Amino acid sequence: MNSIQAISYPVHFQDKGYNSLSNLIAENNYSTLFILVDENTFKSCYPKFIPNLQTDKRIEVIEIESGEINKNLETCIGVWNAITELGGDRKSLIITLGGGVITDLGGFVASCFKRGIDFVNIPTTLLSMVDASVGGKTGVDLGVLKNQIGLFANPEMVLVDTSYLTTVSEREIKSGTAEIIKYGITYDITLFNEIKNNKDLKIEDLIFRSIEIKNEVVLKDPKEQNIRKILNFGHTLGHAIESFYLESDDKESLTHGEAIAIGMVCECFMSAKLLGFPAEKVKEVKDLVLSIYSKTALLTDDFTGIMELLKHDKKNVNGQVNFVLLKDFEDYKLDCKVQEDLIIDSMEFYNA
Ligand code: GLY
Repeated sequence: MNSIQAISYPVHFQDKGYNSLSNLIAENNYSTLFILVDENTFKSCYPKFIPNLQTDKRIEVIEIESGEINKNLETCIGVWNAITELGGDRKSLIITLGGGVITDLGGFVASCFKRGIDFVNIPTTLLSMVDASVGGKTGVDLGVLKNQIGLFANPEMVLVDTSYLTTVSEREIKSGTAEIIKYGITYDITLFNEIKNNKDLKIEDLIFRSIEIKNEVVLKDPKEQNIRKILNFGHTLGHAIESFYLESDDKESLTHGEAIAIGMVCECFMSAKLLGFPAEKVKEVKDLVLSIYSKTALLTDDFTGIMELLKHDKKNVNGQVNFVLLKDFEDYKLDCKVQEDLIIDSMEFYNA
């Protein structure tokens, strides 16, 4: 697979990625390599990763606990302390080996440590391959509020090795699939149709095209002033639903993809009501979502809590929630204001 050139760094695939990483390390003469993992990627991915790395530099592994619940400042402090105790300096390199929590948090840790050290992302889940590891967003959650603390910072390179996908569950693969569906709906409907028709799906091709799309969008608008907002389609309500399930003791958490899949159905419904997005396409999206993800019954009693969390979305300005909605597939309108009643109707539509 060819490499993709992002704003200031390459995205390399498979073996070429390992060679490039070894070269990058030699050329920059890093003092120490800190590999950030969680207990799962340490067990399942690190043994595959390490023989591919050609270097004589000192390597230190830092392990954090897996899960969105640990994507917070407390975990960052633990990592900063570990790097400090292990003698990290400005010429240290952090290599993130994991899913979205590891790449988001690791990039943030690197960007703040001693005012910024280099980092390389090696995503091991579908979600982090097609979304989190590319585009320069780093950060952590504040309580259950998603990605409230963070900054834009680019890695030195991204290495995508799709063989890591054999280490993750089907539920995780489905979580990442939601982001591919998002690229399809908002930018390139062929991706949506390929998943819908589900014939001879080649995951490598879906990943490559998804990264290409994300990169095209980010190159046009790195700091999310305009077109990059389309990458938030389904995420405005989806994040609120995800946070609500994260903070509810009596509910099993949803994966990011499960939550934004619901968000996409709801936001298609709002799009139909406000922008004339065709009703048959709303149905098409809902049918596809329900064919992949089991239905989550959103309780009427929970709507108030979800609406409360919606007020913290990062796109909000002056207390007003801003949605990205669709006039059609691949045709969007940014910064749409939506009345509370319609948001609630959209959740009822998902439930129906
Ligand atoms: N995940 C959306 C973005 O990177 O802009």
